[in-house]
Amino acid sequence: MAFELPLLPYPEDALEPHMSANTLRFHHGKHHKSYVDKTNTLIQDTPFEGKSLEEVIEGAAREDRYTKLFNNAAQIWNHTFFWNCMKPDGGGEPTGTLAGMIRQAFGSLDEFKEAFTTAAKDRFGSGYAWLVLDGGELRVTSTLNAEPPFIHGQTVLLTCDVWEHAYYLDYQNRRGDFVRAFLDHLVNWEFAARRLEEAEPAVEDLRKRA
Ligand code: FE2
Repeated sequence: MAFELPLLPYPEDALEPHMSANTLRFHHGKHHKSYVDKTNTLIQDTPFEGKSLEEVIEGAAREDRYTKLFNNAAQIWNHTFFWNCMKPDGGGEPTGTLAGMIRQAFGSLDEFKEAFTTAAKDRFGSGYAWLVLDGGELRVTSTLNAEPPFIHGQTVLLTCDVWEHAYYLDYQNRRGDFVRAFLDHLVNWEFAARRLEEAEPAVEDLRKRA
């Protein structure tokens, strides 16, 4: 029942030139794999053996003695999620309910991008920028290190990994340029829209209010 490294949803070179094959090869093949391997070691002889990844993350988050397990298990989830937040020839604009909710929450897509980029740049050290559904409202947030917002009851729609290993080979210290490339050329809005659809009935309520 060990956790396994999921395949990337596209070839390693599919996101070039915005994310190089070299970056993806290391990020997926070394970093993501290492989180999987460490989780499988750390989970042995704990009450979390045989649980789902989400159950491991939520359970381990509550106890300090499982911090290492939490960090590694959360990083499996975060990276699998992040790969799905991107696609070749991504970017563009969201449509439908998601587009309307972004306008409602941020004013415009450009203002959302500004808020998301600022959150990513302002995250001191390593972490993630996120678009979440929180109490029926869209919000931009960021978290430190491995923390996924769903442990606080937020529904995650989109993330950008802003650990240095995500961008340093391609962008060196220019985190803002990486996040802008993510939003303009890589982001998979259809995936975020599907996540929103799955968050019913909160979204149904918003549709009725609109
Ligand atoms: Fe990463």
